[in-house]
Amino acid sequence: MGFSFFYTLAIVFFPSEDFRKEANVKNSTLFEEAAQDREAFWAKQAECLDWFKPWDQVLDWKPPYAKWFVGGKLNACYNCLDRHMGTSTQNKTALIWEGERGEEKSITYEELYAEVNQFSQALKKLGIRKGDKVAIYLPMIPEAVVAMLSCARIGAVHTVVFAGFSAESLKDRMVDAEAKLLITADGGFRKGKLLPLKEMADQALKAVPTVQNVVVVRHTQQPIALTSGRDHWYDHLIGEAPTECPPESMDAEDELFILYTSGTTGKPKGIVHTTGGYLVGATMTTQWVFDAKPSDIYWCTADVGWITGHSYVAYGPLANGMTQLLYEGAPDFPERNRFWKLIEKYGVTILYTAPTAIRTFMKWGEEWPQGCDLSSLRLLGSVGEPINPEAWAWYHQHIGGGRCPIVDTWWQTETGSIMISPIPGVTPLKPGSATFPLPGIDAKIVDEAGQPQTSGYLTIASPWPSMLRGVHRDPARYEKTYWKNGSYFTGDGAKLDEDGYFWLMGRVDDVINVSGHRLGTMEIESALVDHRSVAEAAAIAIPHPIKGQTIVAFVTPKEKASFQPGFEEELKLHVAQIIGSFAKPERIIFINDLPKTRSGKIMRRLLRDIAEGRVAGDTTTLADPSVMEQIKAKYQED
Ligand code: WT7
Repeated sequence: MGFSFFYTLAIVFFPSEDFRKEANVKNSTLFEEAAQDREAFWAKQAECLDWFKPWDQVLDWKPPYAKWFVGGKLNACYNCLDRHMGTSTQNKTALIWEGERGEEKSITYEELYAEVNQFSQALKKLGIRKGDKVAIYLPMIPEAVVAMLSCARIGAVHTVVFAGFSAESLKDRMVDAEAKLLITADGGFRKGKLLPLKEMADQALKAVPTVQNVVVVRHTQQPIALTSGRDHWYDHLIGEAPTECPPESMDAEDELFILYTSGTTGKPKGIVHTTGGYLVGATMTTQWVFDAKPSDIYWCTADVGWITGHSYVAYGPLANGMTQLLYEGAPDFPERNRFWKLIEKYGVTILYTAPTAIRTFMKWGEEWPQGCDLSSLRLLGSVGEPINPEAWAWYHQHIGGGRCPIVDTWWQTETGSIMISPIPGVTPLKPGSATFPLPGIDAKIVDEAGQPQTSGYLTIASPWPSMLRGVHRDPARYEKTYWKNGSYFTGDGAKLDEDGYFWLMGRVDDVINVSGHRLGTMEIESALVDHRSVAEAAAIAIPHPIKGQTIVAFVTPKEKASFQPGFEEELKLHVAQIIGSFAKPERIIFINDLPKTRSGKIMRRLLRDIAEGRVAGDTTTLADPSVMEQIKAKYQED
């Protein structure tokens, strides 16, 4: 890639001629087509899928409810597997899996097809029907993908819960989704340790009466308890199942999955995605942004428990017949070069990872990647938070060898697929900017009143196929949280530069991002006040050099509670037990009173001022302005 200096002094990286020549998208035609007629554009893109019955209407938009490809029938699993049978993809490797201890497994499309058919039959035998909700709580193993596709095949709605979530979080999600069945494993591996997944699942299931059956994948071989009549080994079910299971004909608007994500309240939202529009979005953005080619070895390091693992591990790459790597384990196990060893070993061509991981690698030093042959890489991706220019430059140089474009992809659980991102053969890159909205995506930056601005709230002014269709069982929350003046409200702030590039500025609400994991400050606060000795709590995020953001909590203990020395650690563990380890506050500061307005609203903004060492903003609305001095003293002394 060449570079030149703009008058802003930002370095711009232009696509190399070699990359452009071979790229799926070589010019701006797609942007022009989309700008001319957005609906016609999306209708044309939808032809990337195999439909059992074509749609009658492209879009039915009754704000804020959209239906895409109305009347169309298809099956997501069919589009990921069946349609590759009888083509050159049939005998191609679909999944290469490597475990932390070096175990390897390679599965062709035909083998994946066979296993999914069998597991679909097994699910049916356990009484799962179209529309039933199935929870998945699995480590990063091929069975996680099999489970998702099998649900899709029979029309069951999957809800994947990240295996790092606690039993309590798993329970909440299964209850809200009214899950009828749970698919889990005996355990998982992480940094050489065993995760007791089945044990956690058992604990969660005590409070989930709707779950009738549990399927257990044998993975770690650790001893576990099975509840007879309820629990079934995955391999037994597969062994007994018929080999063919016809895919259910699904309406384009039938639900494909629910995925829970944090918002500004203590209760996570079940984001609903449907079949047709979602799959069009995931499939086409994989072609545009990742420049998917039959010869690629693609590796997205995200877990299937997050939206990235849905769109860019399970659905997008498989719908495109790609070969991909799945790795279950930590990047520093057994050594800090594990990722680079994997890339070298499998000849990975596309790597999609998160800024927090890149910053960690930077900290470990370039000697780790330098010892490995990374010359197979041709494209790099980033997701989860803004990538700071230093991390961008390091990624570009030390991982991409200076030759690989970096696609900084902005999107959300709610958007279903990538929204703002470079198209690698077309878009000149500016490190730190996600560049431009993809074709067909009507992103606008506006102020409070909805007026276009160069700095303000990022909104999406027109519906797009892979948009969320609602919040499970909570239409009011869907309407209130996401829609304003007929536009979708992302919750992110953004700026436009003089060349029209989008620069994402982080959340404008009480949603925080720790190592690319989305959390609500309210969620952490509810976990804290759940402890018997806590009266009140306020959680804030402060910038962190590796994690992007980290959590600091201010806690007022109940009067009778005693301050034992281990109390801070105990509270941190309590949060880990309620949400998951990744939600543990970095610091807890014990204070007598929180800064509150006269009406009792906690002023988190003032706490952030203290934590970031700024002069506190306006304190005149506080019921008791003197608390600020006390908190500041406490913050500095600890
Ligand atoms: C939030 C969505 C989309 C998959 C991963 C996270 C932030 C995500 C970027 C990016 C700047 C980003 C936003 C967004 N975010 N990607 N490339 N640049 N910010 O999904 O958990 O739904 O979180 O992550 O703040 O709103 P999520």
